Amino acid sequence: MTCPLLRVDGIEVRYQRSIVGVSDISLTVMAGSITAILGTNGAGKTTTLRAISGFIGLDSARVTKGQITYQGERIDSSVPHEIARLGIAIVPEREKIFPNLTVAENILVSKAAHGRRTHQGGGGQDIYALFPRLAEMKGRLAGLLSGGERQMLAIASALSCNPSLLLIDELSLGLAPVVVEDLAQQILNIRDALNLSILVVEQSAHLALEMSDFAYVFENGRVALAGRSADLARDPSVQALYLGTSHSRHQNADLAQQVERP
Ligand SMILES: Nc1ncnc2c1ncn2[C@@H]1O[C@H](COP(=O)(O)OP(=O)(O)OP(=O)(O)O)[C@@H](O)[C@H]1O
Ligand SMILES: [Mg+2]
Repeated sequence: MTCPLLRVDGIEVRYQRSIVGVSDISLTVMAGSITAILGTNGAGKTTTLRAISGFIGLDSARVTKGQITYQGERIDSSVPHEIARLGIAIVPEREKIFPNLTVAENILVSKAAHGRRTHQGGGGQDIYALFPRLAEMKGRLAGLLSGGERQMLAIASALSCNPSLLLIDELSLGLAPVVVEDLAQQILNIRDALNLSILVVEQSAHLALEMSDFAYVFENGRVALAGRSADLARDPSVQALYLGTSHSRHQNADLAQQVERP
């Protein structure tokens, strides 16, 4: 956790030249850290991850202000395969696996799509050693996996490309709490094993702040709060707004509207 790996500096993203997806997002991912993004529906979390990975181009969107640099190199005008080659992989919010392929085929397809890599992080790792549960299910159709197993497969597929930076959009969406705990623990283990850097979008403030080193709270396309996760978890305003006894998305959405702008 020494130097910035990724820097997002004041980006604005517009869809179809006019619709503003995010208006002013800045964030940093330090090497070897886990950085979490929290925020209500439509706050711009997916837009930001897709801007970093280059996939916004597929949504007729582009970065219209600011810049994104990865290991000192500008990437905000790069296309997805160029960004993937630099070592950034994404687990998307939806359509993260091929349901009609087996577990093993999913991982092979992902590996083949990105070719051989030489940069750090996961190089030469046996993906099944990291995910023993998936090893037991190699021949099973991915469409038959449970939600937690699918997410694990999506993460394993992304890691099979040996990324240095893993982006995960909605880690726990639709998963039972016990599954989420297990998944979060696995991610911490993998980060340690691979010295991976992770930028994760997570709807549960509790989980996000617990598993990350740094966190950003997005609101209406801007960063409303940012800091060390441990500090944010102790912050009374965060406790009141995001860490209340109930923290469903809709309740968070209502509460978040009360957060003061920086
Ligand atoms: N393909 C698109 N075309 C036009 N506008 C879009 C598109 N995708 C997202 N937007 C808009 O950009 C803004 C940010 O959306 P985004 O999906 O990034 O939010 P989010 O924080 O990921 O929300 P959620 O929690 O619901 O996943 C929203 O106003 C949304 O309507
Ligand atoms: Mg989203």
